[in-house]
Amino acid sequence: MTFEELKALDHAHTLQTYGRYDVDIDHGKGATLWDLAGKEYIDFTSGIGVCSIGYGNEKWAWSIYEQALKLGHISNLFYAQPYAKLADKLCGRAGMAAAFFGNSGAEGNEGIIKLARKYSTDKYGKGRSTILTLKNSFHGRTITTLTATGQDVFHQYFYPFMEGFRYADANDLASVEAEGGDDVCAVLLELIQGEGGVLPMEQAFVQGLAKLCAERDWLLLVDEVQTGIGRTGSLFAYQQYGIQPDAVSFAKGIAGGLPMGGFLVNEKCRNVMGAGTHGSTFGGNPICSAAALTVLDILDDDLIASVREKGAYLRAQIEALGKKSIGATRGMGLMIGIEVKEGYTNKELANKLVKSGLLVLTAGPGLRLLPPLTITKEEMDKGVKIMDEVLE
Ligand SMILES: Cc1ncc(COP(=O)(O)O)c(C=O)c1O
Repeated sequence: MTFEELKALDHAHTLQTYGRYDVDIDHGKGATLWDLAGKEYIDFTSGIGVCSIGYGNEKWAWSIYEQALKLGHISNLFYAQPYAKLADKLCGRAGMAAAFFGNSGAEGNEGIIKLARKYSTDKYGKGRSTILTLKNSFHGRTITTLTATGQDVFHQYFYPFMEGFRYADANDLASVEAEGGDDVCAVLLELIQGEGGVLPMEQAFVQGLAKLCAERDWLLLVDEVQTGIGRTGSLFAYQQYGIQPDAVSFAKGIAGGLPMGGFLVNEKCRNVMGAGTHGSTFGGNPICSAAALTVLDILDDDLIASVREKGAYLRAQIEALGKKSIGATRGMGLMIGIEVKEGYTNKELANKLVKSGLLVLTAGPGLRLLPPLTITKEEMDKGVKIMDEVLE
């Protein structure tokens, strides 16, 4: 099949909800991808933070194959080893008490929103169900997580949106206090706003927020769908902020490319969601759980520590290019935002780079890089060379 044939087939019978690049991807190895015609691309996107261990990892592929032969799926009404083993491993490394597994980031966030409202209803009765989120955040595409998302552009078309959300300014504790009240049960935030433009929260704000939540018995909910699973140079970003959330959602990188998401809760919340209050047919499916166990094996402490070094190296190389079209970089680990200078647009620059063999993302008004965490120095250098050749 040629690219043109594939594009025609795609347009014939798929909903065109994605603003796609004019590029197809056929296969990959490490952080390198090839299209149908055999053209090579360096990948600074990892499927928007999903392919955490890169492409074509044999250990990962064998763990999926072996689990598929043994037991591809079983209802959560029965016990199965992969679910329990994954929960044990993840909670141990995150310092949390219990896990729930679903299929996506939005589903993880739905879960922690339900958790907060149930915690509050159990303890205080009705009328304390409002969740504060931050302006410029992104929490997902379901009606509830769209409502939680603190960007007006997402609050269109799909009326009615949910009740029970208010939005405070990021990095502004006074704004959070001003939006607070007797009706609040939780605060939900990303520690680095990803889709919003790779905007890290300040340490003092996050620590102040954790203190405020503890004083008011608001649950501190951290959305680590994009920042989690090693992306920022620790298993979860909150581990670098000196806080322990009440609940944390995750997805994207957890199963290395298979659909999985979920949330972890602390000791205080371990019994909030009892039998019958929550569920998901495919959640924690044995194949996805087996894949996730392999991902966590590969992402050991050494590899995760190397993410901080790789991120610092990549940012230094990009800034050293001294290009007219791009400015400073920001972020943590291998979650990197690049400022786009006046006179250029991020879409224009991303298009140029993608066409020239370097996959990048946009976020807010800038560029965003989320390479596989296993990317090599050679692959990073190749990508930076493309930037050097293509950008003004
Ligand atoms: C911070 C954050 N939360 C939630 C989501 C939604 O995740 P999903 O697309 O897996 O539902 C995303 C997706 O980009 C995200 O970045």
